[in-house]
Amino acid sequence: MASLASAAIAVALLAMSGARAGLPVTCSNPQLSCQNTTVVSNTCCFNAPGGQLVQTQFWDTSPSTGYSNSWTIHGLWPDHCDGTYDSSCDSKRAYTNISSILTAAGKSDLLDYMNSYWVDINGQDESFWEHEWSKHGTCISTLDPSCYTSYTPTQEVPDFFQKAVDLFKTLDSYQILSNGGIVPSTTKTYTSAQIQAAFTQSSFGFPATIQCSSGALDEIWYSFNVRGSVQSGTFVPVAPSGSTSNCPSTGIKYLPKSGSPAPTTTGSQPTTTATKTGSTSSTGTTTSYLNAYTGGSQTGCLISAGTWYTSGTCATYTATPSGSGFTLKSSKGSCGISNFAFTCGSGVSGTVFSASNGELAYDGNTNFYASAVPSGQTQETVSTQAESVTVTFQWQSN
Ligand SMILES: *[C@@H]1O[C@H](CO)[C@@H](O)[C@H](O)[C@H]1NC(C)=O
Ligand SMILES: *[C@@H]1O[C@H](CO)[C@@H](O)[C@H](O)[C@H]1NC(C)=O
Repeated sequence: MASLASAAIAVALLAMSGARAGLPVTCSNPQLSCQNTTVVSNTCCFNAPGGQLVQTQFWDTSPSTGYSNSWTIHGLWPDHCDGTYDSSCDSKRAYTNISSILTAAGKSDLLDYMNSYWVDINGQDESFWEHEWSKHGTCISTLDPSCYTSYTPTQEVPDFFQKAVDLFKTLDSYQILSNGGIVPSTTKTYTSAQIQAAFTQSSFGFPATIQCSSGALDEIWYSFNVRGSVQSGTFVPVAPSGSTSNCPSTGIKYLPKSGSPAPTTTGSQPTTTATKTGSTSSTGTTTSYLNAYTGGSQTGCLISAGTWYTSGTCATYTATPSGSGFTLKSSKGSCGISNFAFTCGSGVSGTVFSASNGELAYDGNTNFYASAVPSGQTQETVSTQAESVTVTFQWQSN
């Protein structure tokens, strides 16, 4: 008898979930996490013990990360209702191919968005996403493989990243703070109460946890309880439980970021205007700096030997029309691609470059590569051959 009844329920559940394999289980009348009135044993429709889902955001100014007028995504954390948390809950699901998983799942739009808004301070986006998934994502009870009908490995991963991004899109911290009169400044300071007032007066409607580094605001953590699963449940804003701000109560700095602002059209890549800007002379040559961009924000520029540097003086490059593109010259000499490396010097034979959407292109490709984002006094060689860091170059507009 019992088996007949449960078979009937299983059929009904399948029918409700569209009868397709691999869907999250359907939840009916779920309780709100952390605010449940009875013990809930099915943690596929109820997030436990991590019932306080926290959407965390960064404001990194050194180096500047992401667009100059947008916070970036840190993660989505399943904190316990008291602010403590579990981490790294399933080493078997510590995937090292997040980008491939998202692409294979048809989520290239999500991946594009993450490449602009979920960016790592050192340009190591994929590793950052792997860390966030394995440390926090694997602890979300409703994303457990057992919570999917006909689970196929990695299918919970797009659900995690999609939800984190969807929540982030509802929490435009730059705008929320700006509405409260809190704007980036090298000189102004703000009080913790002013910042919290901006959150409570926003559509989020509750305080959030703020974090500071050297007295400057650099993180915001927004807490939610969830009615149902992370995949399909309702996220209800709440005041944070347990986690406390480490910012001073007064004198909080909110430093400006360098780099380009986010595009105004939602969801698309930055649109660039002129093919080349900079000062154009009567002979058709253009003279300007070539600024480097990683993850949507400016990180240094090219110096005269053609290497990439973040802490020195940018070199002036002169572009002279040639064929369908232009040649480039710095004070060191002509620039070309030699042994895959971008080099400028007296013995270098000039290469014809082009521009695409305002970005420097070689062989029609605007992506250049380096083994790392330069820091301190290190100069990085810019290569046309794939390496761990992708970088693009744009003429500085005057
Ligand atoms: C809420 O659910 C959790 C997980 O089942 C349980 O530990 C806790 O006791 C429940 N709270 C109440 C008030 O029943
Ligand atoms: C990602 O890695 C997992 C675990 O190694 C593997 O099962 C899966 O097929 C990979 N997915 C893609 C799209 O490469």
